[in-house]
Amino acid sequence: MRTDTLEPQDIPALDDDVLAELLTRARAAAAHAYVPYSHFPVGAAALSSHGSIYVGCNVENASYGLTICAERAAVSSAISAGHRQIVAVAVSAPKVPVTTPCGACRQVLNEFRPDTSDMVIVLDDHDSGHSVWLDDLLPQAFGPRNLHAAVAREMSSLQQQDDHVG
Ligand code: THU
Repeated sequence: MRTDTLEPQDIPALDDDVLAELLTRARAAAAHAYVPYSHFPVGAAALSSHGSIYVGCNVENASYGLTICAERAAVSSAISAGHRQIVAVAVSAPKVPVTTPCGACRQVLNEFRPDTSDMVIVLDDHDSGHSVWLDDLLPQAFGPRNLHAAVAREMSSLQQQDDHVG
């Protein structure tokens, strides 16, 4: 598992064995992909901050735009089980090595990035896996913190108006 590009972060239990297991689970999930149109199976596995793993595969539809990507299926499964902090996600496309998450999936993954660290994305290089940070795939991301910052500014501006009047 290549993690040499990663900095030490506050991610519990995120060792090589766990990332290898995550990749194994993503590969297995790809076998269940429903891909009658693209014939491009993808599997994903999401690791919660509690150490539990949730998998997903791409699910296509005759109305093409309704296709669900593997990453979003895995994230939905984690959220449905009550886990909102995802510390790592493995992505496996058996037909093409090192397939990265699409732009829409990067944005969805960003929503559930842990509070105190980045999220590791394990790409299936058809070897032992290649790890990158989500921040490298989606730099300067827009996310929940931007909205929280806007609310905080609004509150502070209201407070200042109150102080001025009072
Ligand atoms: N796909 C994923 O599942 N994840 C990605 O990040 C890239 C694309 C799927 C969607 C579609 O079923 C097929 O791959 C071809 O685009």
